[in-house]
Amino acid sequence: MQLIDTQLSSTWFPAAKPDKDNNQFNLEVTAAQGSYLVTAKHGEIYDAISSWWCKPLGHCHPIITKSIREQLKLFEHHIPAKSWNSNIEKLSKRLVQIFTQMDKVIYASDGSSAVEIAMKLSYETRVLEQQAYRSKYIALNGAYHGETIFTLGVCGIKYYKTNYSGLLQDNYFIEDIPYVDGQNDPLWLDCNFDYNYWNNFFTHTAQNATALIIEPLVQGAAGMKIISRDFLIKIINLARNHNLHIIADEIMVGLGRLGYYSVSKELLNFEPDIVCFAKNLTAGAIPMSAVVINHSISQVFRKHQKAFLHSHTHSCNGLAAAAANSYLDYLDNSNILTQVKLAEIKLIEIMNDLKNSFAFIKQTRVIGTIAALELNLPIRMLEDIFNIGIEEQIYLRPIGNTLYIMPPIYNIKHDLELIQTKLHLVLQKISTLINKNCNYLPSKCRHVP
Ligand SMILES: Cc1ncc(COP(=O)(O)O)c(C=O)c1O
Repeated sequence: MQLIDTQLSSTWFPAAKPDKDNNQFNLEVTAAQGSYLVTAKHGEIYDAISSWWCKPLGHCHPIITKSIREQLKLFEHHIPAKSWNSNIEKLSKRLVQIFTQMDKVIYASDGSSAVEIAMKLSYETRVLEQQAYRSKYIALNGAYHGETIFTLGVCGIKYYKTNYSGLLQDNYFIEDIPYVDGQNDPLWLDCNFDYNYWNNFFTHTAQNATALIIEPLVQGAAGMKIISRDFLIKIINLARNHNLHIIADEIMVGLGRLGYYSVSKELLNFEPDIVCFAKNLTAGAIPMSAVVINHSISQVFRKHQKAFLHSHTHSCNGLAAAAANSYLDYLDNSNILTQVKLAEIKLIEIMNDLKNSFAFIKQTRVIGTIAALELNLPIRMLEDIFNIGIEEQIYLRPIGNTLYIMPPIYNIKHDLELIQTKLHLVLQKISTLINKNCNYLPSKCRHVP
């Protein structure tokens, strides 16, 4: 298999060295349709991780492309200050109405910016209320909230932070998190919570902190780790009792991935102070993120007659708003959320079946349409999974020793069989490699999330 592109690119790709990866395996995508990337040399590749988790309707879904085309006839974007349009107002109302206590939405273009906005909003209410000393945040080990400097300050994964440590805020981190295999794991409902320990933790940290920031239930970049629901609810309750805001980063899990509009509201049964959505918001078609704000936050700004300053040029973008409204229409009018819940049951079966077939699979975990296999393989072999995946026409990009899938959900019932077959073929080849003492391909890609 010829995997090497000879031409050097001028693009510095994400999570890549400036040049080296250009001599490695980069796919030239010439089109993308439905659940597939169409590539110049390798044909149609099943997009098993939804292009970094943002394509719930696959690529170029007709309802999304139609809405963008219609919007283009009117305008693509206009200044968001002292002006508005009906699309953005409609979208804000819909996002607010997912909850009962929310009353405002601020828009940005990416997930990291949404988290930055949430963090700024929380802190500024403290400043307005004469508590500027509450400048820290409490986050979880294994957390990922983006890669800007402020969001790296609440990142619980060393890999992303090491070289910036001199620039990062010194925040508090919750360690020893009980993780589960899925919703059937006994720890899901009862994690044997040490109330005194955690109460003590918050007593010592909350006075200097403004907010607890969480990824509701799944830590994606940490390797699709699923947090015990019981643990997260109890931590949230304690944080609330200590007068901390709760920022829920639903950038990966919200708007469909787990079968809910909001995981905080529907699966954890609480309303955060601030919720961040991105990725799925526009079905991954146009970059847009949304920060949905509880009236408890907005009312502090009202009380002090204070403007919030995050003056992003492309806030409220017209094309993105059109795409987001049509994605929410799809969620409202299809049975896709039910399909996700049904797919979860089937994915558990598929993952268990794979575990029974391959001795190098240590553990499986599944929630919604996120499924992961924990592999016990030498690092070099893990790096070859991408290449073997491409041979089998499936895009897989392990995070460390976690091989995961997060496929488009619009066609999930149909795609499950294909996913099972392709995963089996890839793992079978890995098994063959093990038997041949790993003398297969040289490592061609670094795998970072
Ligand atoms: C939970 C979570 N928060 C924040 C982000 C950052 O989003 P973006 O890549 O759009 O900046 C991501 C991206 O993967 C994410 O999964």
